Amino acid sequence: MVSVVGVGPGSSLYLTALARQRIEEAEVLMGGVRLLALFPGVRGKKIPLREKADLERVVRRFQRVVVLASGDPLLFGVTDWVLSLVPPEEVEIVPGVSSFQYMLARLRVPLKDVAVVSLHGREGEISHLVRAYQTVVVFTDTRYTPVAIARMLLESGLTEYTICVGEQLSYEDESIRYFSVEELAQSKDNFRLNLVVIQRCIPSSLASPTVYFDVATSP
Ligand SMILES: C[S@@+](CC[C@H](N)C(=O)[O-])C[C@H]1O[C@@H](n2cnc3c(N)ncnc32)[C@H](O)[C@@H]1O
Repeated sequence: MVSVVGVGPGSSLYLTALARQRIEEAEVLMGGVRLLALFPGVRGKKIPLREKADLERVVRRFQRVVVLASGDPLLFGVTDWVLSLVPPEEVEIVPGVSSFQYMLARLRVPLKDVAVVSLHGREGEISHLVRAYQTVVVFTDTRYTPVAIARMLLESGLTEYTICVGEQLSYEDESIRYFSVEELAQSKDNFRLNLVVIQRCIPSSLASPTVYFDVATSP
């Protein structure tokens, strides 16, 4: 049996009780380095998951394996690999809070008229989604950074939008900042682990808590 366990965006406050139970009882715990580091005290054998071949070796050797997935396992996660290697009846999926759900909760944006797309490790064109939806959430990576995404929008003439970048979501050093497309396209920031939310406009009711704007937390 392989359990694919969603660990949420990072903070243990967003780990479900079932996820915690599976992780604590695991004989073998596999996951990316960031995710394994979230559970320093667990007794199971920890094996880093870098590529599909790592997973293949482990599921052949061990009967009970827990695979950690960031956020929710079914959302652009490691579940596809697991299901391509293990019969579905031997796979348990433990849902988690997605980083995108967490981000939209922080922004108080209801989950309607929202498109969620991943440019993490894959090619993509998002301008049609940006035109069609009020809110577009994009999972990023080191190639498709917030700056690269802003430049894509700029090249498509999509300037009447606000881009919100959420970094290190749920961690103590979380930052959530709004940018105009032009401003972000010129930014020199090296954004840490992040996702972006592209919106046609920002309702003024969102502009209150200090965490949304770095400038509001400055003395
Ligand atoms: C492969 S996708 C998986 C998404 C995941 N299944 C989920 O539901 O959140 C990984 C991407 O999610 C985003 N992400 C995950 N955790 C995050 C966090 N704590 N803060 C900001 N972005 C995060 C980043 O864009 C990262 O590159």
